[in-house]
Amino acid sequence: MKIVVTGGAGFIGSNFVHYIYSERPDWQIVVLDALTYAGNKENLSGLDDNRVQLVVENICNPEAVDETVKDADAVVHFAAESHNDNSLHTPWPFVETNIIGTYTLLEAVRKHNIRFHHVSTDEVYGDLELDDPHKFTPETPYNPSSPYSSTKAGSDMLVRAWVRSFGVQATISNCSNNYGPYQHVEKFIPRQITEILEDRKPKLYGTGENVRDWIHTEDHSSAVLAILEKGKIGETYLIGANGEKNNKEVVELILELMGKNSADYDHVNDRPGHDMRYAIDASKLTKELGWQPVFTDFSKGLENTINWYKQNESWWKPQKQETEEKYKELGR
Ligand code: NAD
Ligand code: TYD
Repeated sequence: MKIVVTGGAGFIGSNFVHYIYSERPDWQIVVLDALTYAGNKENLSGLDDNRVQLVVENICNPEAVDETVKDADAVVHFAAESHNDNSLHTPWPFVETNIIGTYTLLEAVRKHNIRFHHVSTDEVYGDLELDDPHKFTPETPYNPSSPYSSTKAGSDMLVRAWVRSFGVQATISNCSNNYGPYQHVEKFIPRQITEILEDRKPKLYGTGENVRDWIHTEDHSSAVLAILEKGKIGETYLIGANGEKNNKEVVELILELMGKNSADYDHVNDRPGHDMRYAIDASKLTKELGWQPVFTDFSKGLENTINWYKQNESWWKPQKQETEEKYKELGR
C-alpha cells in the first residue's frame, strides 16, 4: 500500500503520518507538502526515510501532483490554508490552495483512478446558538462565515461533484477543533501556552463565550484511517469527541495547569464574524464504522500538550515572534 498524504508536514497531517507509520507498518507514505509557513520538515523527524518520503511541491501544480500520485493506492488530503485570522487579512492563498489545490488533486485521482479522502472542517456548517439543542450532522446545510470556511466548503462541493459526475472514489470528513503536539503557535491553544511560557498573558477574543468542540489530533487520525479503510464511497462523516468548552474555560484551565492564577488573562479585540459555537454529532461514524475516541479526558490531553510545548521550545520559538507581530497588526 502506497499512500500520499498532502499537507503531511503540517499539524494534523504530520500527526496522521506518525499514526499510520506505527499502525500500518507495511505502508509506504509519501508526504506532498509545499512547506509553507505552517509546514515543518522537523514534524517528520525520527521516521525511517525508506518508508516516508517528503516531496516538496505545491498541490496547485498539476505536473507535480500527477507525478506524485500516479502510482499511489490512496491520497489523503490535509493540505490547506487553515487559519481564520489569516484568511480575514489575506484571503487569496485560501482560494488558491483550498479550491484550486483540491481541484488539481481531484483531476489527478480521476485520471489515475485513485482512492481519495478529503479532510475538511465542521466550520463549513457555520455556527450554532449557545442554547441550540442540535449539533452539526451530515445533513446540516452549509453556511460558512469566513474566507477559510467558505473555501473549505467549496472544496467539499468539488469532491461531491467529482464523485457524482466522474465516479471518483472519494470520502469526506468534517472534524471539529483539534489540539495536540506540532500545532502552529498562531492557533488558540498553542498561542496561550507559549504566551505563558514567554511570561505574557493569554489573549481571549471578546468575552470568551464562544464554544469549540475539542478533539485530540490522534483521535482525528484514527477516525480518518477508519474512514479510509471502511468508509462508504461518496459519504461524508463528521468527526468529534463531545468536547464542547468555551474559550474562557479553556484559557482558565491552561493557566491552572501551568501553575498560574486562572484569572490572569487579557481580553483583546474580537475576531470579525466570529462563529459562536461548533458542536459535532459523530454518531454516523461511531455506529457505522465502530470508531471511538481515546482521549476523552480533555484536562489530561491538555496537560500532555502543555508538556510537549514546554519540552519543544526549539520547535516553536522560531515561529513565535513573527506570529505575534501579525497579531499586533490585527489588533489581537
Ligand atoms: P496546518 O496549517 O497546520 O498545515 C497545513 C499544511 O499544508 C502545511 O504543512 C503546509 O505546508 C501545507 N500546505 C499549505 N498549502 C499548500 C499547498 N498549496 N501545497 C502543498 N502543501 C500546502 O493545518 P492543520 O491544522 O494541520 O489542518 C489540516 C487539515 O485539517 C486542513 O485541511 C484543515 O482544514 C483541516 N482541519 C483542521 C482542523 C484544526 O483544528 N486545525 C479541524 C478540522 C479540520
Ligand atoms: P482558532 O484556534 O483560531 O480556531 P477556529 O477559529 O478555527 O475555531 O480559535 C479557536 C477559538 O479561540 C476561536 O473562538 C477564536 C479564539 N481565540 C482566542 O480567543 N484568542 C486567540 O488568541 C486565538 C488565536 C483564538
